[in-house]
Amino acid sequence: MDEKLAVRGGHTPSIFYINATFQSFANHHLELNQFNTSSLFKHKWWWWCRMRSFRFVFLALVAMSPLVAAQLTQNYYASICPNLENIVRGSVQRSMQQSPISAPATLRLFFHDCAVQGCDASILIINPNGDDEWRSTDNQSLKPEGFLTVMAAKAAVDSDPQCKNKVSCADILALATRDSVFLSGGPNYAVELGRFDSRVSTRNSVNLPHGNFNLDQLTGYFGSLGLSPTDMIALSGGHTIGAASCGFFGYRLGSDPTMDPNFVSTLRGNCAAGSGGFAFLDAASPLRFDNAFYQNLRGGRGLLGSDQILYSDPRSRSLVDVYAGNQGTFFTDFVTAMTKLGRVGVKSAGNGEIRRDCRFPN
Ligand code: HEM
Repeated sequence: MDEKLAVRGGHTPSIFYINATFQSFANHHLELNQFNTSSLFKHKWWWWCRMRSFRFVFLALVAMSPLVAAQLTQNYYASICPNLENIVRGSVQRSMQQSPISAPATLRLFFHDCAVQGCDASILIINPNGDDEWRSTDNQSLKPEGFLTVMAAKAAVDSDPQCKNKVSCADILALATRDSVFLSGGPNYAVELGRFDSRVSTRNSVNLPHGNFNLDQLTGYFGSLGLSPTDMIALSGGHTIGAASCGFFGYRLGSDPTMDPNFVSTLRGNCAAGSGGFAFLDAASPLRFDNAFYQNLRGGRGLLGSDQILYSDPRSRSLVDVYAGNQGTFFTDFVTAMTKLGRVGVKSAGNGEIRRDCRFPN
């Protein structure tokens, strides 16, 4: 199979996600219509009054929000769903056999979920009114295969009667991401678990970094998530797998002197055909999770401006050199950073739920 063709998805998530889920979406919409809205209002009003009396406790909890991560543990499901890790790994393996896009698409999906309102699977929610994260402009380039991988893993988990509706979609996404990384050749790290799923997802909440960000913008963005510059540089190594459309890097061709000229002419060829053009983020080993991404940066073969800047800017160059020369150090720092990313904004039973269907609040 032509690797390029195989790796390239084709459908935007909007077409795919709606089509693939249309029937249950319609069913769910019916259920929503049948719901008595005035009783919903009363319920909310009652809830709000009650919450006022708990205002102090609530504010105290918000003030302690960094401690929310304390609820996460590696053995959270040990007695609830003992075979969870095997079930998810088996499912991810099958998804990867079906499509080579599955792993990069799932890894990116996890980042886009955690970076917006925390790791709460809000990226998977389909709202009847169309106002949800995955339909925002920045999420339109997410590949359907990532959504599919998580939905398949959730179905596999729920097929075990002991586990049915007991494992959050946010945790399934975190596990599926680790397995995507590991099965692509990356580190096999322990995943902290115990996240709850959010009930809300809105377009306006989406705030993601862009491929033309400079180092200050990148460190500022990741800093706002509680992640350090080292975390940011290690997480950028996620671009060791997957691809980007020409729209994200075409502007650099011929105007960015940090680029290797041979690389530029190859990319010109990739993008000559027009709107469907794309290139691998790590042309050396596009499906293998390794440190070649950093070696590429040293040679001026970073695809995105936000990747190449990690080497062009002297403040981050030395760490790129370390990762380029030592894959073990990259893996160690990547695991640390992924674990920290996985703690961002986690929900608990108080402000979240275990979604029965990852696409809809219960
Ligand atoms: C540092 C800031 C980041 C920027 C500006 C950025 C930007 C992008 C862009 C523009 C693409 C191409 C999308 C497309 O054409 O479909 C992409 C792809 C990707 N990103 Fe990032 N990203 C960043 C951080 C991350 C992080 C932290 C991860 C995960 C740890 C990640 C994982 C991926 C993956 C795996 C792909 C390939 C997706 C695929 O082939 O389906 N990115 N990113």
